[in-house]
Amino acid sequence: MKTLVLNTLGNDYTEQIKTLIKEKEVEIVDTSGMKIAHCMGCNQCWLKTPGICAYKDDYEIILKKLVQADNLWIVSDTRFGFLDYKGKRLMDRIMPMLNMTIGFRDGWMRHELRYHPLNIGLLYKGDADQMMMEDWCKRTAVNIGGQSLGAIALQVKSEFYHLVIINGSPRVAKFSNTDKIIHSFVKGLEGTGITWELHNLSNRKEWDAAREAFLSHERILIAFPLYVECIPSLMLEFLESLPSERRQPAQLSFLLHGGMDEGFEFRFCERILQGLPAQLGCRFGGTLIHGGSFGIRTREDAVKAKIVAPYEKMGRLFAQNGNFLTPEAKKFTGPEQYPWMARKMVSLLFLKKVNKGFEDFAKSWGCTRPLDDKPYS
Ligand SMILES: Cc1cc2nc3c(=O)[nH]c(=O)nc-3n(C[C@H](O)[C@H](O)[C@H](O)COP(=O)(O)O)c2cc1C
Repeated sequence: MKTLVLNTLGNDYTEQIKTLIKEKEVEIVDTSGMKIAHCMGCNQCWLKTPGICAYKDDYEIILKKLVQADNLWIVSDTRFGFLDYKGKRLMDRIMPMLNMTIGFRDGWMRHELRYHPLNIGLLYKGDADQMMMEDWCKRTAVNIGGQSLGAIALQVKSEFYHLVIINGSPRVAKFSNTDKIIHSFVKGLEGTGITWELHNLSNRKEWDAAREAFLSHERILIAFPLYVECIPSLMLEFLESLPSERRQPAQLSFLLHGGMDEGFEFRFCERILQGLPAQLGCRFGGTLIHGGSFGIRTREDAVKAKIVAPYEKMGRLFAQNGNFLTPEAKKFTGPEQYPWMARKMVSLLFLKKVNKGFEDFAKSWGCTRPLDDKPYS
């Protein structure tokens, strides 16, 4: 099996490529200095000079190698959550590997192969969703008759940056569950060279500084609790006060948590968050989602620390990948919905205890009425 690696990123990544690509016969071609034009869709490679591109540039060298290869890996940066133009250009120019003629292959209408199937893989850097990149590899592999080799995020070379963290909870920081979560998360940044600052929207006196930090830094994380299916209105007011244009590009990520355990609870808000960064002139760095945060603040310190401890690992992961667009971050959410049996067990064993805890807490606040009191009926 021959493997061709087209590296648009230059020498900085050669060592990492060598460790990530396990195949035996591997040729790495540095395309960063090559003269390669964009496919202009002239169709000459299909209808005038079959198999030969009209452009006489460095892609001809690549095409001759592709004819000998079984596997093709593209090494590319990403923009807009997808390959950048340099990576995509290498795939657009692959057309001479196919024929104009169309047939059904594995049940799908496709151009017929001029040579043989080609397996496709991707090594990428930047803020792209790994599962989206995997999907693209699968689609592209189908196009060219092969299998997907997968999409792998490259480790970014020790990039020290400053992270602006905004606590979007309306609850004062001292009592905010978000605050406890953030402080566990930042433990994971220790020793990575990443510095951070924190602004609390519950204190309006911090809004000017939060706005300035938001506008003048390149990495922003907003952590907040789910409020009635979406963003708390106080945080919306803050976001509405931000200008839609920035002085420089930035990445905006979110840490979303809430009282309920099940992942489905957060999906509506997650969809809103996906479109939000672009409207504030930022690129999307993903959303880390986790439920079960109701009682953090009411617990003793040791229990509190245990509940928020998993966020430290997520902090480390964030430092490593630079975003939450990885399968590990997605997995952190937990079950989408408890299965029937688990619902029964949770109701019987766990919720009884939790609800009793609410009653005890109310008593400690001097509440003398039942928690299901109906004062206006
Ligand atoms: C007005 C309000 C609405 C809430 N709505 C939801 C909700 O829809 N789903 C959920 O899981 N939790 C909901 N919660 C629970 C909070 O997300 C949860 O208690 C969170 O831990 C609060 O974090 P904080 O202390 O930082 O504000 C709501 C809480 C409040 C006060």
